[in-house]
Amino acid sequence: MERRHETEMWKRKGTVLFLWVFFAVCMRLNVEAKSSSTLETQIEAKLKQLNKPAVKTIKSEDGDIIDCVNIYDQPAFDHPALKNHTIKMMPNYLLELKKSSTEEGLKSEIFQTWQKSGSCPKGTIPIRRIVREDLLRAASLDNFGRKPPHQYENSTDQANGYVPENRSSAYLLTVGYNYIGAQADINLWNPKVAQTNDFTTAQIWLKNNNGPYFESVESGWTVNPKLYGDGATRFFAYWTRDSYRSTGCFDLTCSGFVQTGQVVLGGTIGPISSFYGQQYDINVGMFLEPNSGNWYLKLKNNIAIGYWPAEIMGSLRHSAIAVQWGGQVSSMNVGKKTPHTSTQMGSGEFANGRFQQSCFMRNIRIVDYSLQLKYPRDVTPMTQEPFCYTAVNDARPGIEPEFYFGGPGRDLPHCP
Ligand SMILES: *[C@@H]1O[C@H](CO)[C@@H](O)[C@H](O)[C@H]1NC(C)=O
Ligand SMILES: *[C@@H]1O[C@H](CO)[C@@H](O)[C@H](O)[C@H]1NC(C)=O
Ligand SMILES: *[C@@H]1O[C@H](CO)[C@@H](O)[C@H](O)[C@H]1NC(C)=O
Repeated sequence: MERRHETEMWKRKGTVLFLWVFFAVCMRLNVEAKSSSTLETQIEAKLKQLNKPAVKTIKSEDGDIIDCVNIYDQPAFDHPALKNHTIKMMPNYLLELKKSSTEEGLKSEIFQTWQKSGSCPKGTIPIRRIVREDLLRAASLDNFGRKPPHQYENSTDQANGYVPENRSSAYLLTVGYNYIGAQADINLWNPKVAQTNDFTTAQIWLKNNNGPYFESVESGWTVNPKLYGDGATRFFAYWTRDSYRSTGCFDLTCSGFVQTGQVVLGGTIGPISSFYGQQYDINVGMFLEPNSGNWYLKLKNNIAIGYWPAEIMGSLRHSAIAVQWGGQVSSMNVGKKTPHTSTQMGSGEFANGRFQQSCFMRNIRIVDYSLQLKYPRDVTPMTQEPFCYTAVNDARPGIEPEFYFGGPGRDLPHCP
């Protein structure tokens, strides 16, 4: 009797315990299902927000999907400051602004891969579609399409002009005047990116400040597997109002840049230069239209891409005070961290390798209020990690200066 009672009791206890465990497991599953469905919902929402309805879709052989989107449906108009914005095409005088020189021959070959597969109808612009995998590769949905913030480990580092955290640059700098435009022919290469979170660029920066806090408009080419999902060389545009902290992004991955032309931001470009072989370069220029305060972007001297409207800029809408031409490697393994990343800059060769080996920029020009393209008055080659990436300005009297930059990254023994 006693025994039976005890057994009954244990049975009951067992049932209660079982129910508890069952309940707990259910709760947990429920929580997991809920959080994954929340992420799923957020991804869906972000994709819906970024990818606008397409009038026509083009499948590019490089794997990109290109959507032809009505020009007034583009992401820019999601920006609160651009709700009533009217599109202003690049004024002719800026479109016609170019160096009257020769050397046009090889440039005309540069193209975007997707153009082999079609074109967009009138009134629409081609936009690279963002897919689920692109978002999943990002550290967070909020950081998607953004460079890491420009900051220093500590103020001593900053005062000593040390490398800002997680980025290393080699560039030609001009400061001290009001610049309302800059351009260069940028040599095209396909450097290796060694770590999944790294990227490398060859680009022009126009900034409102040469210090750690700046606004910038930027353009050039990049290899950025995290953002684009492959190791291809791609044309990009970038802007920030707060040193990459919370505003701006690559291409059209956030609202701000107004696209007017038929070039895909973030689209692959080619052909790529080869060592001791054919060299290719692409002319990139950014120009302020002082009346509107819009910064216009053009390619190959006379192809209008679009603009950064004054509404999204601070003092940069009046002029830039610093211009940089060069390369940047973004990686957790630069600066004091060892081993240094093996992500390459430029062609992957140091700047002293020269033509057909090192990445160059030429036809480097600024525009001031005279509205003429000029070679900048004072230029300084700068490099933050001289044993990893170098910068050399080859400026001899009587010839067009050529700026060389780049390097392999990790290079024993000096860049360990
Ligand atoms: C857009 O226009 C509406 C109506 O005129 C106005 O109320 C609103 O403030 C404007 N928004 C911006 C961002 O200029
Ligand atoms: C700041 O950086 C310097 C230079 O690398 C280093 O010597 C110093 O210990 C750092 N200070 C702090 C507070 O971390
Ligand atoms: C730099 O990388 C480190 C290491 O991953 C990370 O913890 C840090 O937040 C990064 N700093 C910036 C400014 O992005």
